[in-house]
This record gives sequence, structure tokens and C-alpha cells, in this order.
Amino acid sequence: MSIETLQTLAAPIRSQSLAKLAASADNAVYRGGGWTVDVSRQYLTAEIETALLAHANDVNLTGTLDDLFSAAIVNPSENRPALHWALRMPPESELTKSEHETTLRALEKAAELGSSGQYSAIVHIGIGGSDFGPRLYADAFGDRQLDAIELRFCANVDPLDLDLALRGLDPAKTLIIGISKSFGTEETLYNLARARSWLEAALSAEQAARHLLLVTANPDRANAWLDGNQATTLDMPISVGGRYSIWSAASVAVMASFGVETFQQFLTGAAEMDAHVKTTPIDRNLAARMALLDFWNTSFLGFGSRAVLAYSRRLRMLPTYLQQLEMESNGKSVGPTGADAPLSTAPLLWGGEGSVGQHSYHQWLHQGTHIVPAEFILAPGSHSDPEGVEALTAHALAQAEVLANGRSLAEVNAEEPELTEVVARQKVHPGGRPSTFMTAPELTPARLGALIALYEHRTYLAGALWQINPFDQWGVERGKTMATRLKPALRGEAKAEDAATQNLINLLK
Ligand code: F6P
Repeated sequence: MSIETLQTLAAPIRSQSLAKLAASADNAVYRGGGWTVDVSRQYLTAEIETALLAHANDVNLTGTLDDLFSAAIVNPSENRPALHWALRMPPESELTKSEHETTLRALEKAAELGSSGQYSAIVHIGIGGSDFGPRLYADAFGDRQLDAIELRFCANVDPLDLDLALRGLDPAKTLIIGISKSFGTEETLYNLARARSWLEAALSAEQAARHLLLVTANPDRANAWLDGNQATTLDMPISVGGRYSIWSAASVAVMASFGVETFQQFLTGAAEMDAHVKTTPIDRNLAARMALLDFWNTSFLGFGSRAVLAYSRRLRMLPTYLQQLEMESNGKSVGPTGADAPLSTAPLLWGGEGSVGQHSYHQWLHQGTHIVPAEFILAPGSHSDPEGVEALTAHALAQAEVLANGRSLAEVNAEEPELTEVVARQKVHPGGRPSTFMTAPELTPARLGALIALYEHRTYLAGALWQINPFDQWGVERGKTMATRLKPALRGEAKAEDAATQNLINLLK
């Protein structure tokens, strides 16, 4: 019933002025975990909000959250709970104690690495969820890195990536950290094997193994790979998905090179957001409201993408991180019962760093023919040079205003009467482009933790609204299988089954 109501409400709303909707928006600001979120420039009215909340009630979104936080099986295709939140919250019961302890062990190991003086560099090797999170964290807090340990990353199976990561390093002073939940990912195993050879070219096999630290949920495979040599291993819990694993031992490299205390603040911020999401009724619950907005914009208003515009140098990698989190989680069209998702699901997520993006794709956002809801994230903080902070803030506010309100022909003519009609028309901004504005006073490790936890919960709840399982990823498997099958064709030992692929192989030769 609520779906039909929402469909009826969607049709007329797009012709409304966003400026008017914003002026009449009541209760459009939500708060939690140190973040404030203003959705007044979205295509929402009190009636639509009521219908969305009625739908949340119909599908028992509160129960969906209870399931997550009570460690129920929320990942039915793999028959597992999803326990990423348990890594950052002190355990309330025995149920999640062992998961939490894996993070505590990683923190201990990181403290030991940081103080040992044994290593001057760490090379973090992993891909996807075993890479994006620690890389985002390291990029965000580059100004806080401890001097003692240089941190480098390698993810790509393109051999140049590891060449660059190892360049100029001394094997005797380098620790290679390999992260793979499955310990079966081709890219990571390839890079790890090359890194091990690099160590072994300078050290004995036994010594080389001591320069390896492996983080995995599959210790049997890791031990087989070690082939009898002794290396340190840390556990990744099986019930924590790769893209939800930033809170786990997967982050041991950043824990060591940015300090354990900083990472603990990051965990504490995430736990603050967890507490908000767990206990706040749906109508004031940040994650639920944002998931309902995603549901509304995508499945009823038909917006096929969302732009994350991070007005923060610290968050320039956030869109890349969120692409995996949201699109690998909810880029699906069949639900856990095997039924087709009844409505369109997760939009394309893209974006970048403001104000840099203003000199690139903002032209398209303002005057292109596609309307893309934008998500501004601004956490300006203070700086000894306030001029830049003021400019950053002014740019973010201005972009949101122009996207929503546009610039009419009358305004262009009034402001620039010397223009010809032809030029004036080209300066019109149609407006009507909705946005959300997310702010925090400063992007500290705690606020980053809260922000990521918010996106995780939002993703989970949006998955429930779309009736899909956000915790599996069958869609990435087929390509991996096919790549393996194509290797003989690349070597000329067989022909590719697909003619177009074989033609491409011929071209490559
Ligand atoms: O891309 C598929 C995927 O399974 C991701 O979900 C995961 O984060 C990544 O590969 C890496 O997996 P692993 O940590 O098992 O190497």
C-alpha cells in the first residue's frame, strides 16, 4: 500500500521549486554521532516524509536494525550475521566478544610494531575492502602520520604497482603486510608472492617470513602459502565483510603508522554513531532517514546516480571508498529469496573532492541534461590560515544553492544587461538539482569513524528497503572465473570461446 502512495506522490513533486520546498521544510535537519545532516533541498514534503515513514513501519525497519545489532543472520546467502559494528563497540555479550578481540589484538600488534624500531617502512598489500579503508584513513590523516614508519600501498595486479610500492626500500627494514579475508584473491596473492621474492632476494627464506604479516579469515590457506615458514598472522572475523572491515586487523598498517590512540578515536566515533543508529527512533535516525531518501530518490524519482562532493581534503578518497561499500553491497537485482527486487536499486555513486571538482564535472552537474542528487560533506575545522577555510565553505554553500535554485534568464538579464539574448540563454542554470548537506565541526578521526559507520548503516537499511542482501557479492565472481579461463588463450594455447574476445587477443598480440 505504502509503495502505491509513494508512487502517487512522486509524479507531481518534480515540478515543485526546491527553493520553496526548502523554505517550507520542517524537521529537515537530523543529528547523530557528531554529524548534522540537512535534507531541506530534497524533493520531500511532510506528506512524502509521512509516507516514507509509513513504509519503514510496514517493512519493520526497526526490526531490521534489531537484527543487525543482535547478531541475527542478516546475510542469508552466506548464513552469517554481519558483525562489523562489534569490532568498534565494547562487547555487550559473549556473542560478539571474539570478534571485538581480533581488533584489540591488531591494536596490540600495531603498538608493538610502532615502538619496535625494527621497520622504517610498511607495504600494505590488499585489494577492494582489504585496501580502500586503510588507504582512505591514511590519506585523510597524512598530516598526523608518525615519522618512524613510511606507509605504502599496493593493490593492482599491474606489476608496476608493486614496483612503485617497493621502490627505494630496504628489505631488511621493511614489513610487508598482506591482507586478504579469503586468502584466495589473485591480485593480492600475486603481489604478495612478488614481495616475498623481493624479501628473499636479500634475506633468507626464514628471515623473509619474519618480514611478513598476514591478515586473513582463512589461516589454513595462509599457512599453506607460507610453506612451513613462520610469519605473524592476525585474524579477520568471517562475519565481517571485506567492505565493512576497516575496523578490523585489515587496518593494522595504519594503526601502526598513525598511532594506536588515533585509531581508537576512530573506533570510538564509529561506536557513537552505532549508539545513535541503534537507539534512535526511525523518524530521527540518521541512517534510516538517509536510506529512506536513497530509496525515494532512486526508486520513485528515478535518479540513477548520486554525487558525493567531499569539501574536505581529508575526504578526497571517500567517494572511491563508498563506491565499493554501496555499489558492491546494493548493486543487485535479485533478493535473498530469489525474487526480483521490485523496484530499481542502488544508484551509481560517484564524486570527488571539492572545490577541485568544480573545475571539472560541476559544469555537467549544473547545466547538463541529467539531474543528480548531490551530497555535500563539509567539515572545515580550523586552520592557522582561515582564508582557505572560509573559501572552501563559501564554495560548498554556493554550489548547493546554485544547483537547487539555478539562475533564470531574468536574473541573467538583470545582472548582465550587456549580453546578447543568445549568450544570456547559455548562462541560464536550470536548477532543480537536489542536495543533502552533511556537516561536522572538524574531520577528526572520531568524526571519520562516525561518518563511515553512518554510511554502513544507511547501506544496510537501504538494502532492506530494496529487498536485497547487502552482504554478498556474487556479481564480482564471474569476471574472476572468466579471467582464469582466458589465460590459456592469451598464451596462445587455446582459443577464447567468445569471438569478440579472441579478436581483442589477436589485436593485443
Ligand atoms: O571484489 C570482491 C571482493 O571479494 C571484495 O568484496 C573484497 O573486499 C575483495 O574482493 C578482496 O577480498 P579478500 O580480502 O578476500 O582478498
